[in-house]
Amino acid sequence: MTDTPIYFDNAATTGKKPDSVIQAVCDCLRETNANPGRSGHSLSVKAAEIIYRTREAIGELFNFPKTENIVLTKNATEALNIAIYGTLEEGDEVITTSMEHNSVMRPLTHLESRGTITLNVLWADDNCVVSPEVVRRAMTDRTKLVVITAASNVTGTKMPIEGIYAVCRDAGVKVLVDGAQGAGAVQIDLQKTPYDFLAVTGHKHLYGPQGTGALIVKDPTRLDFFMRGGTGSLSEKTTHPDFPPDRFEAGTLNTPGYAGLAAGIRFILREGLDKMLAYERNVMDYLLEKLLDIDEVEVYARNADRVAAVSFNVKGATGSEVAHYLDKEWRIYARSGLHCAPMAHRTLGTFPRGTVRFSLSYFNTEEEVDRAIEALKEFVRQRG
Ligand SMILES: Cc1ncc(COP(=O)(O)O)c(C=O)c1O
Repeated sequence: MTDTPIYFDNAATTGKKPDSVIQAVCDCLRETNANPGRSGHSLSVKAAEIIYRTREAIGELFNFPKTENIVLTKNATEALNIAIYGTLEEGDEVITTSMEHNSVMRPLTHLESRGTITLNVLWADDNCVVSPEVVRRAMTDRTKLVVITAASNVTGTKMPIEGIYAVCRDAGVKVLVDGAQGAGAVQIDLQKTPYDFLAVTGHKHLYGPQGTGALIVKDPTRLDFFMRGGTGSLSEKTTHPDFPPDRFEAGTLNTPGYAGLAAGIRFILREGLDKMLAYERNVMDYLLEKLLDIDEVEVYARNADRVAAVSFNVKGATGSEVAHYLDKEWRIYARSGLHCAPMAHRTLGTFPRGTVRFSLSYFNTEEEVDRAIEALKEFVRQRG
């Protein structure tokens, strides 16, 4: 048993947060704990400044200066739902991929089952990729939206989102990128590739607290909204404001959470995303090499371009047996199962068995990989 726990479940939520994130949440709760944009007193103004600085930090990371078009949400799921339900109408066709998380699949299959949309799910290839050409060929006159993940939460494999954006732009089709795994794990520049919508979550590779996220919207006037309530603006009216971001942000915001999210993004901007990704890639390559060395371990999409996550199985064992052993005997925290993405497992041929997933962050090390590999080898040896 190791004394220090090893956290390899960063695709679920980054385990270690920078100290500055923890500090920012505590400072907000201690010193700036007022309701932003509601009361006129100076503490409320300071809280509103935290909210504004959060939009600014998000805008800086994704090169998107129109901060009023950055809608703060409680996670990627809320952001995806706002984009999907706010865009689609009777008769629209939607294209998506078999690698999507249920936070994309469930809203889309709900609209399909209601008869509102036609849904075309494109199967990914052996590297878990759907190519821009495959998307182009699937489009029809009725295609309104393509929803695509930047990176799979199951295999860590990247989708060619820039190429897919290019074919959609040429065809006049909107693109919604699910950046839950991609934000802070791949370079996204919204001046270069101005996706119609980018949905992100704050608590994964942006290193913020849970309960934070954002939807970055190219043209909010074309996006319907379904939550209405207090915004602190136009209080004399009983109708909801129609200007962004208030149009999409009814109710009190998670100010302490966003204080932490802004600090998480500032941490990335200070360190430099390129440097962080290069570091993670090295540790990931090291992990892959070691995993591939164990005969009893089957690694999925082994040759694909990926973020710092990988799925595997140990021959003759269920994923939960492996994850349970790592947790109880070695204090190594990893996730097993279907990871909320059943069609991704049908793509891999691992449905309903699922996989074990190791997902890394900037704070993991090669020494931790060595330890995890030792643990896996011991598991295999004991199963004999
Ligand atoms: C690819 C992908 N999309 C969406 C989500 C949903 O993120 P959240 O639970 O933060 O809303 C996740 C969460 O794991 C994910 O991995």
